[in-house]
Amino acid sequence: MRKNIVAGNWKMNTSLQEGVQLAKEVNESLKSFKANCDVVIAAPFTHLASINAEIDKNLLGLGAENCADHVSGAYTGEVSAAMVASTGANYVILGHSERRQYYGETSETLKTKIGLALENGLTPIFCIGEVLEQREEGVHFDVVKSQIEDALFELSAEDFGKIILAYEPVWAIGTGKTATDEQAQEMHAFIRRVIADKYGKDVADNTSILYGGSCKPSNAAQLFAKPDVDGGLIGGASLKADSFIDIVKAF
Ligand code: PGA
Repeated sequence: MRKNIVAGNWKMNTSLQEGVQLAKEVNESLKSFKANCDVVIAAPFTHLASINAEIDKNLLGLGAENCADHVSGAYTGEVSAAMVASTGANYVILGHSERRQYYGETSETLKTKIGLALENGLTPIFCIGEVLEQREEGVHFDVVKSQIEDALFELSAEDFGKIILAYEPVWAIGTGKTATDEQAQEMHAFIRRVIADKYGKDVADNTSILYGGSCKPSNAAQLFAKPDVDGGLIGGASLKADSFIDIVKAF
């Protein structure tokens, strides 16, 4: 059956020293109780190798927040999936709305990135979600369906089974405005149906679908209680070990 997962997305926050310290605190806390879910932190590229050296990977997974859409070569400033894997990281967030919005990432680019991540043994945490106008126009289900179809539906069932999805309504990210647990459940159940129609019920039932967008200690338990919400992708609240661990404990 699918796993429950709480993943932190640090975004462009923390110096190397602060990041290593935060990762150590999270790792220490995880030694003090038995988490009922997998726990992952996604950190800036510059931090990955140092964090990897400090954490117990049996307790805490490590991921990048992006990777390049090329294998290697003359792409100044880019970081490849192989480079990410060589740090010891085993996850990569792909298709975050901030990447789509500010860096023009399209489904075409993301398809390539997903393929490279998988080839390098990284587990993609693939983000999808509508903007506010799309929800107000009532096209949010269509938008999310296309995001999944366009970037993922050329994968074999076996490869699709390696992907973690994160539904992040863009209007809820960093805004303090969380989707209600009913809104999250409604979309997650829809996503699972879309997967089932393409890959069958078994694959759909085994896919972890995380919720992201102003998820915090005060609302995590209610969201995670929904049958199709398998955890969270946590931005702001992952930058303090205490609040991140409180969200882990919501399971
Ligand atoms: P937030 O970000 O928790 O700060 O809203 C979530 C995300 O963007 O992954």
